[in-house]
Amino acid sequence: MYDNNPTLAGIQKKVDESRQGEAFYQEQARGAKADGRHFYIESYGCQMNFSDSEIVASILAEAGYQPTRILEEADLILINTCSIREKAEETVRKRLRIFDKVKRQRPGTLVGVLGCMAERLKAQFLEEEKLVDLVVGPDAYRDLPNLIGTAEDGDKGINVFLSREETYADISPLRLDSNGVTGFISIMRGCDNMCSFCVVPFTRGRERSRNAFSIVAEATDLFSKGYREVTLLGQNVDSYKWENPETGERATFAQLLEMVAQVNPNLRIRFSTSHPKDITDEVLFTIAKYENICNYIHLPVQSGNSRILSLMNRTYDREWYMNKVRRIYEVIPDCAISSDIITGFCSETEEEHQETLSMIEFARYSMSYMFFYSERPGTLAARKYEDDIPLKVKKRRLQEIIRLQAQISQQHNQQDIGQTFKVLIEGDSKRSGEDFKGRNSQNKMIVFPKTEGLEPGDYCYVKINEATSATLKGEVVG
Ligand code: SAH
Ligand code: SF4
Ligand code: F3S
Repeated sequence: MYDNNPTLAGIQKKVDESRQGEAFYQEQARGAKADGRHFYIESYGCQMNFSDSEIVASILAEAGYQPTRILEEADLILINTCSIREKAEETVRKRLRIFDKVKRQRPGTLVGVLGCMAERLKAQFLEEEKLVDLVVGPDAYRDLPNLIGTAEDGDKGINVFLSREETYADISPLRLDSNGVTGFISIMRGCDNMCSFCVVPFTRGRERSRNAFSIVAEATDLFSKGYREVTLLGQNVDSYKWENPETGERATFAQLLEMVAQVNPNLRIRFSTSHPKDITDEVLFTIAKYENICNYIHLPVQSGNSRILSLMNRTYDREWYMNKVRRIYEVIPDCAISSDIITGFCSETEEEHQETLSMIEFARYSMSYMFFYSERPGTLAARKYEDDIPLKVKKRRLQEIIRLQAQISQQHNQQDIGQTFKVLIEGDSKRSGEDFKGRNSQNKMIVFPKTEGLEPGDYCYVKINEATSATLKGEVVG
C-alpha cells in the first residue's frame, strides 16, 4: 500500500500494531461504571473545543459519570468556553447566570469552566464568578476527576497548566451529539503563530502534533463504527509534523492526509484550518490524488490589504495569498475555498477595506466567516496598536462584506445547478422529515427528497435543481 514511500510503510506497520491498543481504549469507555452521577456539558467556540468536550466526556465516563442533556439532572455542569471575541465571553457569562439558578435549586451541584476562557482568566475567574467550583484549562483535562474530588471537599479546583506535550492521543473520545456519520479528530494542539489580534496562542499554548498512528487508528475505529467522514482538526494543520521517537521517521501533513485517506476509499477526509503561509503543493497534490479527500480548503485571509496583513502579523501579503488561490484552482480545479475575515482592524482605511472586498471577488469564496475586530487583552495588537475604528464603522464595513459574500456564494451555488454531485447523507433535513441532507466534496449542504433504500452514512448522486446563497436543492439520480 505504501510501497513507494518507505516512511509511510514503516508507519503503517506501527498503525496496525496500535489499532489493538485503540480497541482496548474503546473497551474501557464502554466498561465505564455508572454509579448514577451525571454530567452536562455545553461547548462554545471552534470545532477544537467541541472535539475537546468529547475527550472530557471520555475522561468523566472513566470516572463514573454519565452524560446527560438535561441540565436539571446534572451533578456536574461544565461549560467549555471560547475567548476569541468579547462577545464569546459575554455568552459564557450569561450561561453562568442560568447555571446559578440550577445550582440554587440543587445545592451540591458543581459548576466547572473549561477551555480558553478558563485559561485566559485563571484564578481571576473564581473571584469574578462565585458559583464556579472548577477552572480547568485545555491541557489539564486528565486532572478533572482529581479536581472534582477537591471541589466535593469544599475547595475550589483549578488547573490551568499549559503543556508542551499533551495531545490526549491515547484517549478515545466519547462522541457527543453525534450523527454517527461525521466525526472530528484532533491532530494537533496549540498554535505557534502570533497573529497580533489572536488570543489562541495564550489560551492553547505551544503547537504540538499528535502521534500519527493514533490518528489513523481513531479514523479506522470510526469507520468500523459506521462513520463515513472525518475532519482533521488543528489551528494550523499544514504545520503538522510528527516524528516517531523510536525510529526518527517523520510525517508531514500531506503524508498524514495520505495515511488517513488510505484507511478506506469510502471514508471522506476533511481538514481545518489551513494557514496560507504553510499550505504546500504537496498537500494540494495529495488532495488531487485521492477522491476521498474533499475538494474544499478553508483558507482564512483575514484582510485583503498587505499593510493590514503585516500589522496582523499574518506573514503573507495580498500577492502571496492571491498566488496561493491561483495555485489551488490550478491543481484542484473544482476546489471550493472558504475564508475568515476581520473588518475594522486597527487603523484600517476605507481603501484598505475595499481591498478586502475585492479579495472576496478574486478568490470566489464559497462562504466566509466574517467578524469585526474585537480587541483581546494581552495580545500583540492590544499592546501595540490603538483599536481606533469606531464600532459604527466596523459594523458598516462588516455589513458590506457580508452582503458581497452572500452575492458571491449565491453565484457560486447557481453554477452548481444542473450538475450532479456525490453526496454523503448525514440525516434528515432541518425543515422536513421527508428530505435528507448531506454534503458534496466542496462542503456544500444539499437537501433532497428521501428515496427508498438510502439511509444516513450512504453515498448517493444528487442532481441540483435549485440554489440559494446557503443551500442547494436537488434529487437523487442514477
Ligand atoms: N487558526 C485559525 C483561526 C482560529 S480563530 C486561522 O489562523 O485561520 C477563528 C477566526 O476568528 C480567525 O480566523 C479570525 O478571523 C477570527 N478572530 C480571531 N481573533 C479575532 C479578534 N480578536 N477579533 C475578531 N475576530 C477574530
Ligand atoms: Fe490565531 Fe493566527 Fe494561530 Fe490562527 S494561526 S490560531 S489566527 S494565532
Ligand atoms: Fe475560541 Fe479557544 Fe477555539 S478561543 S476559537 S475556543 S481555540
